[in-house]
Amino acid sequence: MTMRLGPGCDLWVLAEADVDRVAHRLGGLQALSPDERARLDRLVRPGSRRRHLGARVLARWAMSRYLGVPPAVVEFAQGRFGRPVLADPARGPDFNLTHTDGMIACAVTPRGRVGVDAETYPARPDSVRLVGKVLTERERALLLQAPPGARPGMLAEHWVLKEAYTKALGLGLHRPFDSFDIRDGGLGPALHDPHTDALPHRDWTLQLLRCGAGHVMALASAAGVPPGSMRVLDAALVLADVDGATAAALPRLQARMTAPAA
Ligand SMILES: CC(C)(COP(=O)(O)OP(=O)(O)OC[C@H]1O[C@@H](n2cnc3c(N)ncnc32)[C@H](O)[C@@H]1OP(=O)(O)O)[C@@H](O)C(=O)NCCC(=O)NCCS
Repeated sequence: MTMRLGPGCDLWVLAEADVDRVAHRLGGLQALSPDERARLDRLVRPGSRRRHLGARVLARWAMSRYLGVPPAVVEFAQGRFGRPVLADPARGPDFNLTHTDGMIACAVTPRGRVGVDAETYPARPDSVRLVGKVLTERERALLLQAPPGARPGMLAEHWVLKEAYTKALGLGLHRPFDSFDIRDGGLGPALHDPHTDALPHRDWTLQLLRCGAGHVMALASAAGVPPGSMRVLDAALVLADVDGATAAALPRLQARMTAPAA
């Protein structure tokens, strides 16, 4: 049955520990396109392979549900900087993928574009040396007002929010992170991008989520997707439901509608 999006984004999450089981259930490597299999073959490290496989299987399965077709029939293409998209974007909603140690996620939006990023939380203490590349002068000044122990967490939150936005744009790391600000928008993090006027979507919703103690995730969606209306779908649980089986749930994702502490 075709699945409908609500007013907010759908966030599909897949624990890395569930990848092999879920991938097997959805057809294993045969479910991937020849391009996807070739890409997988180039990855040497078992963890990278597992997360890439998980992301591709998750995207294929999730998008097949919105399109109302079998997973193997969904066709993908790539944007200029590698952003995966539906081969015919007019046929279905926009989506984006992220994977990090332990978790994979696929965000799907009812309107416009979406970007998602997940990282382990907090950032490693030595990551604070990256502040000059990641934060604007204004953000750096606010970070330095915080106790040193809080800074890696604040940096991780800024990082995921910024990367989610640049991934929605399709630019990823090609867009310098110190060229736009994340500010406290009252109800949640807000984007201040001096170059936004030149882009097709001016109003962005940023959402920050925590998953258990170990991960932070952010979603950036364009075109006025209402914050707080996101549906979180644990892929292993949804699949178990389809199969009439039981599965363990991921630690509950908690949407934090506050801005990053800086
Ligand atoms: C995309 C990018 C931000 C990923 O950063 P990351 O934190 O390591 O990875 P994440 O797990 O959050 O996201 C990876 C996923 O984002 C998606 N992605 C790739 N390029 C993307 C882009 N330009 N915009 C949005 N999403 C992108 C892919 O699904 C990718 O998963 P996959 O590699 O398994 O297919 C980074 O690699 C980037 O800026 N790439 C731009 C292109 C580039 O420089 N490529 C170098 C190789 S040619």
